[in-house]
Amino acid sequence: MKIPVGDLEFELLIPYAQIETRVKELAKQIETDYADRKPVMVGILTGSFLFIADLVKSIEMTTEVTFVKLASYFGGTSSTRQIRDDFDLTIDIKGRDLILVEDIVDTGNTMHYLIEKLKVRQPASIAVCTLLLKPEAVEVNIKELKYVGFEIKNEFVVGYGLDYREEGRNLLGIYRRRS
Ligand code: IMP
Repeated sequence: MKIPVGDLEFELLIPYAQIETRVKELAKQIETDYADRKPVMVGILTGSFLFIADLVKSIEMTTEVTFVKLASYFGGTSSTRQIRDDFDLTIDIKGRDLILVEDIVDTGNTMHYLIEKLKVRQPASIAVCTLLLKPEAVEVNIKELKYVGFEIKNEFVVGYGLDYREEGRNLLGIYRRRS
């Protein structure tokens, strides 16, 4: 089935039922890995808002939730490699275990930028949890990338928080651009 978003057409790639199952698996993995700690989950807005909500609901341990806002696509369908810092953390992260929660790692530039920025504040550890990874698009290797929901091809996707020109975030599954 074709779904129009803005001036483009999309088709279903990952149904919500599959996302739900995978998010629960990631939550269990995080619970096991951080059993004796109280991590800070840092959602990267805007794209991760649905993912972090579902993830946190599935984690049965104490976590803190906070957000930063970064932008890098600016309305197109490929990375500009320019990062705009819209808002920063408001908590002290020195000595804390951070889990950066992202919708998608594409070139890796956004995540690399954020990790370098946060490292200076001396957190105890940084791990990255991304719903989607495009392995063929990665330009900067992220060694902190510990939790990956799904690996996808180098295609433009929307849905479950991800947008095309601010549309499509409310779609429940992940949809890929039809060629
Ligand atoms: P990176 O810096 O190239 O890794 O890009 C990361 C950011 O670009 C993500 O947080 C998204 O906001 C955006 N992005 C990357 N790929 C897609 C996509 O396929 N659809 C929508 N946004 C994307």
